[in-house]
Amino acid sequence: MPQSALSTHFQSLKKHRSRLENLSLSALFQSEPNRADDLSIDDGVLFFDFSKNRIDQQSLAVLLNLATDAKIEEARGRMFRGGKINFTENRAVLHTALRAGEGPAIIVDGINVRDQISKAKRQAFDFAEKVRSGEYSLGRHTIKDVVNIGIGGSDLGPVMCVAALQPYCSGPNIHFVSNVDGADFHDTTKGLDPHSTLFVIASKTFTTAETMANAKLAKTWLSEKISPRDIGRHFVALSTNLEATAEFGIDKNRIFGFWDWVGGRYSIWSSIGLSLMIAIGSDNYQQFLEGAKSADEHFLKQRLEDNIPVLMALIGIWHRNIWGFSAHAVLPYDNRLLHFPAYLQQLDMESNGKHICADSTISQYSTGPVIWGEPGTNGQHAFYQLLHQGSDIIPCDFLVGALSHEIDQTHQKMLLANCLAQSEAMMLGRSPQQVTEMMQPNIDARLVPHKVFEGNRPSNTFIYQKLTPYVLGKLIAYYEHKIFVQGVIWGINSFDQWGVELGKQLASDIQPLLEKEHVSYDSSIHDASTNNLIARFFQLSK
Ligand code: F6P
Repeated sequence: MPQSALSTHFQSLKKHRSRLENLSLSALFQSEPNRADDLSIDDGVLFFDFSKNRIDQQSLAVLLNLATDAKIEEARGRMFRGGKINFTENRAVLHTALRAGEGPAIIVDGINVRDQISKAKRQAFDFAEKVRSGEYSLGRHTIKDVVNIGIGGSDLGPVMCVAALQPYCSGPNIHFVSNVDGADFHDTTKGLDPHSTLFVIASKTFTTAETMANAKLAKTWLSEKISPRDIGRHFVALSTNLEATAEFGIDKNRIFGFWDWVGGRYSIWSSIGLSLMIAIGSDNYQQFLEGAKSADEHFLKQRLEDNIPVLMALIGIWHRNIWGFSAHAVLPYDNRLLHFPAYLQQLDMESNGKHICADSTISQYSTGPVIWGEPGTNGQHAFYQLLHQGSDIIPCDFLVGALSHEIDQTHQKMLLANCLAQSEAMMLGRSPQQVTEMMQPNIDARLVPHKVFEGNRPSNTFIYQKLTPYVLGKLIAYYEHKIFVQGVIWGINSFDQWGVELGKQLASDIQPLLEKEHVSYDSSIHDASTNNLIARFFQLSK
């Protein structure tokens, strides 16, 4: 939305901040008897509690006004209808269509993408089932191991979901190689049998240097045991670049395509999900899509005040722009969500880590925060100290299931108790009086401040019954829409990623310089520090 309009809303919100600064969260709970119910939403599968934020009905009303003025509903409609909202790349943004199923045509450049999607999905499902059943084999070997080679959005979605949905994994073992550091390929393939290993080369562009280098390495690795005639069967490609996949030598029957209107970080819903499909099977993957679809319907149909992703976004804006909090922690109390913070890091930071607005001017306001996190309870014994008593306030999202997939629920209750205790501790804190009372009768006044917790540290909590494919799909889609809403409010393009280009270009300039020492090159091209480090590389690599 225009910066001038944003400025008016932010000024009014800042007045609410001043008012609320004098009220603690416990005081808000005392004065609002229905606060826990009023500031939470049950969508039937996920329960979203946002009552532990320093917010009240008045400030919420102003935030909702901001969302209305930002024309979120219109922008949302444009995205779902296939409008070219990725305006710097002139592309539609239609990851939502990938999970929409049957319905009226969605036309992009004169083509009904629904037809393309269902055909591509059928092909991917069919192949995944053939791998799972052994119908697709490697000579006389059934596939025991699948290695997904991809990076960024072509890695993080599958890697996160395969770990999250372990109880549903009943196919071959799935492994991931992403880093160009040769250690990644080496350590991942150590112990695998080339005869029974399938490589899935996942790359939207099929030009990403790291993925191409690892794909070539996979060919070499296979060629030590497999005859050149048979190597082709060990490769599958997931890409929009059909020319490059053919050039790499992958049979056209094993190329699973998608389209430029699927952003890399939104591509788990496309053929990029193939390794997940192979792991959990097409029925479970369909459930994953259904979960996301139900989140899309919620986002489309619910009023702004009852809309989970809209509220997540507004609370984020409140924290980032009105309170100045520059980071946001994602804390899953679900060990299988161990890669969820990293997944959201790409989703959020590559989408909203920008400061140029739609009209090409510099944003006057802070945009996307730093996203980070780790599963609880591990994080409690590492960085939570800073969350409780550090000089910066970091809003947190807690995620937890009521039940685990394990038969004995004893651990789950401990886990849940810890999760609830952390958000409560962050909110309530512990006053000097309470500390003094606890220290009775040996009060050491010098120690009191060290044991005080200020409290009033904000958090959201998502609670669900169990981490199923449906729940996971829904969760991811809510975060996607949160990020979209924030991008609309900040007036930035959440769907390009120009910020990763410069580093890629410089790496390809530097690499030839590492090939041969004393090669004559124009040392003024790189800065003195970089030149020095290149020289040091040659000294150290002897
Ligand atoms: O470098 C960033 C990026 O373009 C991401 O947006 C993307 O997910 C990743 O690289 C991988 O790209 P590709 O799927 O084309 O290999």
